[in-house]
Amino acid sequence: MEGTERRENLNMSKESKKTDIRNEQDVTRLVHTFYGYVQKNERLNSIFGEVADVDWNHHLPNMVDFWSNLLFQTGRYKGRPFRQHLPLPIQREDFSIWLKLFHSTVDELFEGERARFAKEISTKIAQSFSLRLEMAGKYDQPREPVDRE
Ligand code: HEM
Repeated sequence: MEGTERRENLNMSKESKKTDIRNEQDVTRLVHTFYGYVQKNERLNSIFGEVADVDWNHHLPNMVDFWSNLLFQTGRYKGRPFRQHLPLPIQREDFSIWLKLFHSTVDELFEGERARFAKEISTKIAQSFSLRLEMAGKYDQPREPVDRE
């Protein structure tokens, strides 16, 4: 019984150790952990690794800049990210995989206002990328037509 209680307390203290995304170090941790998972995900890794042949030494710091700009308005990212995605063989479902992985990484490491914002803004960006890819005719399967009646 005592053991169980102690374990519960330990779990609670582990739980309460989570903080919000507070600084550069936290952004770096988020980005590096997330792309670590991306590289373990068969589908996403096939796009990053085989197709795009990404240079992670360049991509990771670039993504840290991107997120530090979104979360802390550091002005460090000035790129236009959509165009990099246009030539990639991304399908609609890939954004769901990406988002699920990104959100679970945020939840695993952080909690708080900025963590929530990171999840919210990533969803919006993914939706916008997906719509633009669809409008560019990049998806194999068209959506079902909308029934107007
Ligand atoms: C299925 C989902 C996605 C895949 C497979 C994907 C893949 C890629 C790849 C292969 C690159 C090029 C990396 C390089 O050559 O250095 C890239 C760049 C980038 N991606 Fe994604 N991406 C996805 C979704 C997203 C989303 C949802 C966001 C934003 C929340 C995002 C933000 C970026 C940014 C900021 C860059 C860097 C663009 C630049 O060079 O300035 N990506 N992505």
